[in-house]
Amino acid sequence: MAATPLVIDTDPGIDDALAILLALASPEVDLRLVTTTHGNVDLAQTTENALRVLHLAGRSDVPVAAGAAESLVYAQPERAGHVHGRTGLGGVDLPPSPAAVDPRPAVVALAELLLASETPVTVAAIGPWTNVALLLATYPEAAARIGRLVLMGGSAGRGGNVTAAAEFNVWADPEAAARVLGATVPTVLVGLDVTLPTVLDEGGIARFAAAGPVGATAAAILQQYLDHARSSYGTTGVVVHDALALTEAIAPGTLGTVRRDVVVDTTRGAGRGQTLVDRRTVSDSPTAVDVAETVDSPAAVEFLVSRLSDLAARRG
Ligand code: RIB
Ligand code: CA
Repeated sequence: MAATPLVIDTDPGIDDALAILLALASPEVDLRLVTTTHGNVDLAQTTENALRVLHLAGRSDVPVAAGAAESLVYAQPERAGHVHGRTGLGGVDLPPSPAAVDPRPAVVALAELLLASETPVTVAAIGPWTNVALLLATYPEAAARIGRLVLMGGSAGRGGNVTAAAEFNVWADPEAAARVLGATVPTVLVGLDVTLPTVLDEGGIARFAAAGPVGATAAAILQQYLDHARSSYGTTGVVVHDALALTEAIAPGTLGTVRRDVVVDTTRGAGRGQTLVDRRTVSDSPTAVDVAETVDSPAAVEFLVSRLSDLAARRG
């Protein structure tokens, strides 16, 4: 079966890095383009990090196009260096890539790819959804060519991780999130309800760390996440939110989903960035999204660990 064309829109970001490596380890998808956004750290840093992660895996051939440096309406209140490290990759200084950033703005590169593709393209958005919102507004004819939009973000019933109400990617740009969730693109929402229970423990990390230098580097990048989890939550594992979203992009149906109406709180009060998921009914609205509500977490973790181990072993 031919590999599905894939674009990842990302703000690397420790779990973004794992998600990119997972995509490169998966024959079901063909990573055609990486677009970067502000989010965990500033755009210049997320873009440099994307280039370096691709180079780490020997795939500096994949183009990287830089997108939004800031949220649509109100500036993101703060970055997440305290979680991802000052440079966004847990303090690990990866070798620079020989590749240059694609000169096209992310939205242009994405629109051109979508319009030129013979087959439906999966787009995985694992940072703030600013670039996706800009694509919808600037090139609606291209957005209509998205085969599947897999969004990491939001929460149906698990509250938030940045505030009591809001998950980071939605909190960073609620207006963009409202625009994206109000579109009619086939969309899967992978939120905290399924990511938080899916914990990568130290045993899993040790497995891919032992598989080769790429695995050892991925483990080193994760160390900051581990330290943050231990000091903040007293846990000995990490939630690699973005890697679970990519698992769903790579293996559709991994997550149990229900079509729901979802709205975003774009007010500037305590609930700003909250995703209000209507779980009273299964929706038949054209703007409903497939909200991930169930997950086999051990199976998802095994998928990630085995794929990363294979990649590390292949790269030697
Ligand atoms: O809430 C989790 C999301 O916020 C992930 O995309 C992680 O990279 C952070 O950006
Ligand atoms: Ca991210």
